[in-house]
Amino acid sequence: MKILTVVGARPNFMKAAPIIAAIDQHNRRLSVSTVSADAEAAEPIQHVLVHTGQHYDEIMSGAFFTDLGLPKPDVHLGVASGSHAVQTAEIMTKFENVLVEAKPDVLIVVGDVNSTVACALVAAKIPATTRPLIVHVEAGLRSFDRSMPEETNRVITDHLADVLFVTEESGLQNLRTEGVSPEATHLVGNTMIDSLLACKDRAEDSTILETLRLRDVGRGGEGSRGAIARYALLTLHRPQNVDDRRAFSDIVEGLDELAADCLIVFPVHPRTQRRIMDFGLSLDGGPGGSSRQHTSVQLAQTKGLMPIDPLGYLDFLCLMKHARLVVTDSGGIQEETTCLRVPCVTVRANTERPVTVHTGTNVIAGTTKEGIRLAIRSQMHRSVTGSIPDKWDGQAAKRILEILVRAHEQRAPRLPAGQSPHA
Ligand code: UD1
Repeated sequence: MKILTVVGARPNFMKAAPIIAAIDQHNRRLSVSTVSADAEAAEPIQHVLVHTGQHYDEIMSGAFFTDLGLPKPDVHLGVASGSHAVQTAEIMTKFENVLVEAKPDVLIVVGDVNSTVACALVAAKIPATTRPLIVHVEAGLRSFDRSMPEETNRVITDHLADVLFVTEESGLQNLRTEGVSPEATHLVGNTMIDSLLACKDRAEDSTILETLRLRDVGRGGEGSRGAIARYALLTLHRPQNVDDRRAFSDIVEGLDELAADCLIVFPVHPRTQRRIMDFGLSLDGGPGGSSRQHTSVQLAQTKGLMPIDPLGYLDFLCLMKHARLVVTDSGGIQEETTCLRVPCVTVRANTERPVTVHTGTNVIAGTTKEGIRLAIRSQMHRSVTGSIPDKWDGQAAKRILEILVRAHEQRAPRLPAGQSPHA
């Protein structure tokens, strides 16, 4: 079996890494057992990793390959930034050649970024004789908010996919409602959580707390590390939140009580850095705050905000793990904080990940100042720290691979033209 996996943007890397590790493990097992009673382990899996280049910086991409132990991509499409149409079209044009040449049996796309939908669409339209099984990891999530580009990407990708791997119960329900065959959908857990659990202990070796002077380095004696300061962690990158000056300022004002209570560490996404410059805004920097170089005027007199450049996976995980509270508009961070049992305030009107609210540690604040203040107040007083959703146990990638091996065995020869798992 030949599997081709596509990654493109930052949140893809931690979702794909455990699947690639599971493939490696499958092949290693096979190489040590000459006679295998296990039919599933009978065939080595050939793997091709394609990076579209949607994210291209060391801080948005390279650092994640290092931290997650991802192999160097076999193919890099070098697409980079652009409007949605330009970026999607460029990925499609370049990916078609790669797909036709590589002829994988299985194409894996993960998450909801432009690279995800672009590559699934290419695969869906190549001739049936070369068409791979299209697999979507993190299928079925719905915010029901079509103003989010990711929602469009999710819906289209799900309806192109032959096999859909779902992270939470709501995903199964959404797909059922949309007429996707239940045989095509599998609740397997969350590969992003696989990465988190695999890296959680290693993240303790990060020195980011010392770099940001959040850990008392002078105390604790040799071999032990000092006490960790009380701090919150903030991320903002959604166009709805940062592309409009008013919306952005409202959010920062909504953080004022929190900022008076504790330091807010703010790794600033490149889009957000650009907006801060465009709007002539400034954030009150602290140690390690390299974004300070780009800023000019004080933003809403918000003291206690420490802007820093985006972080690698392990440093960010370390910061998340020890934070008193995380405020974010990211999708994945809602899940990661649930797994770490750290209270999370989501600065959005909705979430496509309702399990993080019902079961986990997340609260949806909306985007008004007052809504954010209220949510932060309630989360700072929260004592119950949620529980872990079903199958978020670090084994999702293993389940995915087992299902794919079976699906491949049952599938050959390739699906005839027009045959689809969708009703
Ligand atoms: C993309 C995803 C979003 C995901 C986010 C994580 C889509 C539609 N959006 O949004 O779902 O949550 O990634 O970051 O796919 N830039 C750099 N260096 C890079 C990449 C981008 O400086 O390596 C800058 C560019 O100026 C670019 C801007 O960041 O214009 C935004 O990048 P882009 O990939 O267009 O979207 P994101 O906002 O990152």
